[in-house]
Amino acid sequence: MKTKILFIFLILWGCNMNAQEIKLPAPDRVGGQPLMKLLNERKSSRSFSEKELSEQQLSNLLWAANGFNREDKRTVPTALNCQELELYVILKKGIYFYNAKEHKLALVKEGDYRKSAGLQDYVADAPLNVLIVSDTKKAANAQYSYTNCGYISQTIYLYCASEGLATVARGSFNKEELNGLLQLSKSQEILLAQSVGFPK
Ligand SMILES: Cc1cc2nc3c(=O)[nH]c(=O)nc-3n(C[C@H](O)[C@H](O)[C@H](O)COP(=O)(O)O)c2cc1C
Repeated sequence: MKTKILFIFLILWGCNMNAQEIKLPAPDRVGGQPLMKLLNERKSSRSFSEKELSEQQLSNLLWAANGFNREDKRTVPTALNCQELELYVILKKGIYFYNAKEHKLALVKEGDYRKSAGLQDYVADAPLNVLIVSDTKKAANAQYSYTNCGYISQTIYLYCASEGLATVARGSFNKEELNGLLQLSKSQEILLAQSVGFPK
């Protein structure tokens, strides 16, 4: 009987451990459509279906946006190589931190918080909302951080154009509410949000 209970406990513990993080598949580093075509098609869209991105698409998008393409440097530049920006994602199942070095998602808070990701109605429909967060202690200055942030946002736009996904960069969100939900420290600041999903 004791062994049975221990066995069930271990299974439940194992399931819980898995929920704590999502190990993303390796990003596809050679795919995608030609750059000039993507620039021609890049646009903001504000209408999303409920369809979720595949884990491969999530992996590719996050790696493209802020992943490591060399041992210690990323797909996007940062002034003075400060690398002060990190990504958080709000998915239907929870809020996660993108651990770029290990290319995995670490659970911050379980549950559907998409409504809190922004002030406009369409935000809650998007299966993915990306938050670009600066660690102001690591940053050279605010001006550089906003510049660095733009590279990430445009990369998300281009990846979405390549995949036929809809996206829009957003400055409209409730900073205080999101600071709490993301469990940010005093030195962390959300610079920009970006909604992503399949077009409706
Ligand atoms: C820094 C920044 C903040 C933005 N904030 C919002 C926003 O809060 N809500 C929104 O619907 N669109 C937002 N946008 C999208 C712009 O409205 C959009 O880029 C602009 O209308 C041009 O359209 P296009 O992206 O299709 O070229 C933002 C864009 C940027 C670059």
